[in-house]
Amino acid sequence: MGVLHLLLYPLLLSSLLLACHCRNLNRKLHVVYMGDSPKEGSSIAAKHHAMLHRALGSASLAKESLVYSYGRSFNGFAAKLTKDEAETISEMEGVVSVNPNRIFKLHTTRSWDFVNLTTNKLGAPPESDVVIGLLDTGVWPEHPSFNDSGFSAPPAKWKGECTSKNFTCNNKIIGARFYDSDNASDVTDIMSPRDTEGHGTHTASTAAGVEVDASYFGLAEGVARGGVPNARIAVYKVCWAFGCGSADILKAFDDAIADGVDIISVSLGSSYPSDYFDDPIAIGSFHAMKKGILTSNSAGNSGPYPVTVSNFAPWTLTVAASTIDRKFVARLQLGNGLILTGITINVFDLNGTTYPLIWGGVAANYTIGSSPDYSRYCFPGTMNANMVAGKIVFCEALGDGSAIIEANGAGQIMSDVLVENMDVAFSWSFPSTLISPEDGKLVKEYITSSENPTATIFFSDAWKDAMAPVVVSFSSRGPSAISPDILKPDITAPGVDILAGWSPLSGSSVYYGDTRSTLFNIISGTSMSCPHASGAAAYVKAVHPNWSPAAIKSALMTTARVMDPSKHDDLEFAYGSGQINPADARDPGLIFDATEADYINFLCKQGYNTTTLRIVTGDNSTCNNVTPGRAWDLNYPSFSLYVEEGQTISGTFTRTVTNVGEANANYTPVIYIPALIDVVVEPPVLAFSAVGETQTFTVNITGPAISQHPIISGSITWKDESHAVRTPFVVYNYLPGAPYNLEYDQSNAFPSFQKNSVYQRNGFMGRGRAHPRLAN
Ligand SMILES: *[C@@H]1O[C@H](CO)[C@@H](O)[C@H](O)[C@H]1NC(C)=O
Ligand SMILES: *[C@@H]1O[C@H](CO)[C@@H](O)[C@H](O)[C@H]1NC(C)=O
Ligand SMILES: *[C@@H]1O[C@H](CO)[C@@H](O)[C@H](O)[C@H]1NC(C)=O
Ligand SMILES: *[C@@H]1O[C@H](CO)[C@@H](O)[C@H](O)[C@H]1NC(C)=O
Ligand SMILES: *[C@@H]1O[C@H](CO)[C@@H](O)[C@H](O)[C@H]1NC(C)=O
Ligand SMILES: *[C@@H]1O[C@H](CO)[C@@H](O)[C@H](O)[C@H]1NC(C)=O
Ligand SMILES: *[C@@H]1O[C@H](CO)[C@@H](O)[C@H](O)[C@H]1NC(C)=O
Ligand SMILES: *[C@@H]1O[C@H](CO)[C@@H](O)[C@H](O)[C@H]1NC(C)=O
Ligand SMILES: *[C@@H]1O[C@H](CO)[C@@H](O)[C@H](O)[C@H]1NC(C)=O
Repeated sequence: MGVLHLLLYPLLLSSLLLACHCRNLNRKLHVVYMGDSPKEGSSIAAKHHAMLHRALGSASLAKESLVYSYGRSFNGFAAKLTKDEAETISEMEGVVSVNPNRIFKLHTTRSWDFVNLTTNKLGAPPESDVVIGLLDTGVWPEHPSFNDSGFSAPPAKWKGECTSKNFTCNNKIIGARFYDSDNASDVTDIMSPRDTEGHGTHTASTAAGVEVDASYFGLAEGVARGGVPNARIAVYKVCWAFGCGSADILKAFDDAIADGVDIISVSLGSSYPSDYFDDPIAIGSFHAMKKGILTSNSAGNSGPYPVTVSNFAPWTLTVAASTIDRKFVARLQLGNGLILTGITINVFDLNGTTYPLIWGGVAANYTIGSSPDYSRYCFPGTMNANMVAGKIVFCEALGDGSAIIEANGAGQIMSDVLVENMDVAFSWSFPSTLISPEDGKLVKEYITSSENPTATIFFSDAWKDAMAPVVVSFSSRGPSAISPDILKPDITAPGVDILAGWSPLSGSSVYYGDTRSTLFNIISGTSMSCPHASGAAAYVKAVHPNWSPAAIKSALMTTARVMDPSKHDDLEFAYGSGQINPADARDPGLIFDATEADYINFLCKQGYNTTTLRIVTGDNSTCNNVTPGRAWDLNYPSFSLYVEEGQTISGTFTRTVTNVGEANANYTPVIYIPALIDVVVEPPVLAFSAVGETQTFTVNITGPAISQHPIISGSITWKDESHAVRTPFVVYNYLPGAPYNLEYDQSNAFPSFQKNSVYQRNGFMGRGRAHPRLAN
């Protein structure tokens, strides 16, 4: 009940905000998607205007209504429309989808060492020819992580721009644009690609920051750097205080593709799945793929529940979040000598001084109607300042600490029965630690049994986490809600307690009122794992500039470090192929390549309307000879066999691999076959005599009728003398209507009060949370 209370209030406030937002407008921003760019040169904006003129009945209204013409990389526009006008346009020729603008949410540096990208830096060039485009909250351009000392001029292919609005590019940050078409910003935002949130500076420096000395207020001191420190960064600011609008996201893709980026990194997503051509990230990344650009996406922070993975289009890389071998703990010592360890980033040194310790329940402010039922959780506005001042308070809920700060408390010890997985550390603005519910009982017992209970909290330590890598609880899990025949997520990367760059204008802990400025912060999310994968993809791209997006993705997946299945009940639905291993991805031996035509065949199999797909591809041959059915034959570096409840296991998959290793190579399969299942791979040897040669093999997976098997998994690894090309397979039969929890967003429940972190990127939700108060 405790945490729920904190949450209901923001929900209430957000619906109010939405209501007044809507009252003023009967025309709302809509995104109209029209597929491939028209081949002829006639003004695309004039065409969009003509369509609007027809739908709205007036040229001047049409002009007023048009917000964006997409036309640099694909066709479509964003315009303010009523429901009826949107419907009229959706029936016009050439229109694939019309959707109201939606608000998306944003979903170091030991981490690169942990994935073994330590001494393999490529140097510039070829790394400096690679441009990573990030759709995020912008960056802090003067941040030391973006120092361009020693950088040459941008690569000749670069066609991007740099706005001069409160922003100056250099030879590291070579492009910067911003988009706010629908009032997603508030007073804390600056109309510039300049980052006031911290999130975009964090993701950009994780992917491609230069080496800098870093720490979070003295903790985790060392060198921070991105995966490709010599690569360039292009900034597309689409996220603001209220979130990230789909019209802006699509415009950023339109620009980034035409500007000439090589890899697109998108650490944001929707909390519910939609069809591919209704989703701006799926649309944008599809057209990016057509132009040879891989998009790397966060899987979402809605775990550990099944079918929560977002950004699951097969032409993108979907990245889960896992731990590195460093975890932050803060010990506390009770007056009786007992030492307990919490999972916390505590950068306040009490030097061992002890303070009186009280239970929050005895410090209720009765004047305002609070009682121990509220104050035991230390809810904002519930505490009696006379009782709390100068003391350490034991609270039975994870909170932002504001109640104790306002009452001049000396510190807080939290434990929360609703926090089941203590696998992420947060930081507060005063001495704080979070301990397990069992240890919480010990603290409460000590308080009730001693006359003058006291405690002290110590500065955090970084401990070695021998369990790592483990997929963190909040990381969204597969299978894909839309394409059961594609295994998602694809891969996992470090996303827990990552130290990287930060905006000095942003808050530095979970407490909204924290005014300490910092250039580095330690935060968690699939938002943090995504730029690790983007950096790894850029690394492979630097070595193989001509590889397709599918080839780069295949290299990352087939060489991934195998995760320990015994630590993950949901196996590949947690980690996909495993943890990124960029150094090995340079030389994968074989790749599973795929072209636009392959993805279109996949969409035909998925039952997408042929008329629609022809508009998307701009090609009349689309879906000839393809009938809808199982989409098993997309040349994907993993296998997913969905079995209906009570049916027998039976699937045949065909794959084609391209030799990118030595000319003469013989690969034989090593198959890990789980109980229940039979796997036959044909032929038994793949013999190559040239680089670029392809070979095709089939995989037959069979077994008895199954029911209620959430996942069974194995793998096929093609080996030659120096390569191991590993592809996992999964067999599963989740039922429709099983406990899928798409609407439930763990990020709302757990670190809900965390200002300016990945979790805050939540559209209107963030608004209420910034000022948590007790509901009446
Ligand atoms: C990194 O490389 C070392 C030595 O080559 C190996 O033992 C270790 O398992 C690798 N770690 C990862 C995360 O791949
Ligand atoms: C950038 O790096 C160079 C070389 O290390 C250094 O001299 C310079 O002061 C740095 N500039 C900034 C703005 O930090
Ligand atoms: C430019 O950015 C600074 C923060 O660095 C901010 O204080 C200022 O208001 C901004 N100026 C404009 C014109 O937006
Ligand atoms: C955005 O908000 C401002 C101020 O509240 C208002 O004047 C303006 O019309 C709004 N614009 C849109 C596109 O809603
Ligand atoms: C702990 O010691 C440091 C260094 O002597 C000092 O700066 C700090 O204020 C002390 N903290 C407290 C709470 O006394
Ligand atoms: C109780 O709450 C009221 C209203 O916030 C506040 O004015 C008062 O100072 C509080 N009393 C104590 C003892 O903290
Ligand atoms: C495809 O969809 C369009 C638009 O929804 C519709 O007009 C058309 O009839 C559909 N075609 C087929 C073959 O289903
Ligand atoms: C597709 O077919 C139509 C009608 O046959 C034709 O007008 C059009 O030019 C063709 N488009 C392409 C891209 O071939
Ligand atoms: C795989 O299964 C298909 C269909 O059941 C069958 O025709 C084919 O012979 C099998 N191939 C192998 C290699 O077992």
